Amino acid sequence: MAKLPILLYPHPHLRKVARRIEHFDDGLRRLVEDMFETMYAAPGIGLAATQVDVHRRVAVIDVSETKDQPLVLVNAEILEASGVEEMEEGCLSIPEIHEKVARKERVRVRYQDLDGQERELDTDGLLAVCIQHELDHLEGRLFIDHISPLKRERALKKYEKLQKRSRA
Ligand code: NI
Repeated sequence: MAKLPILLYPHPHLRKVARRIEHFDDGLRRLVEDMFETMYAAPGIGLAATQVDVHRRVAVIDVSETKDQPLVLVNAEILEASGVEEMEEGCLSIPEIHEKVARKERVRVRYQDLDGQERELDTDGLLAVCIQHELDHLEGRLFIDHISPLKRERALKKYEKLQKRSRA
């Protein structure tokens, strides 16, 4: 396993749209293992392939406290979504910025596992929010796209300042 570099905002590749996975091979297994290692080390609760500059529809998630409930979503799509949930979100590609985002409260997702087996998941709360956040990445969308222009401007100013400081 290897830790992968995470693309940081405003890297243009974060805006790329990911393509479907066709082959459930060792390459995919290795990518997923590396993504989990990268996510757990960060530490984070979700990571999309886009963030490690692989533009394929793969996301890894683990929202458990104990970090032992890994979920791999390949070619995932949201079939149904309902309700409204507002939660503070962050992103490994925009470190140290946290903003409240309104999402669907409950989602039903169809996806494939590492063996290409089709599965469905019906969930709510943090996991539902995390799934929406990661699937957004695969479409080239970021959580800051969902907040008001004023809040976004303020958040990005803060982010720029923090980035400059960490480069200095
Ligand atoms: Ni993110």
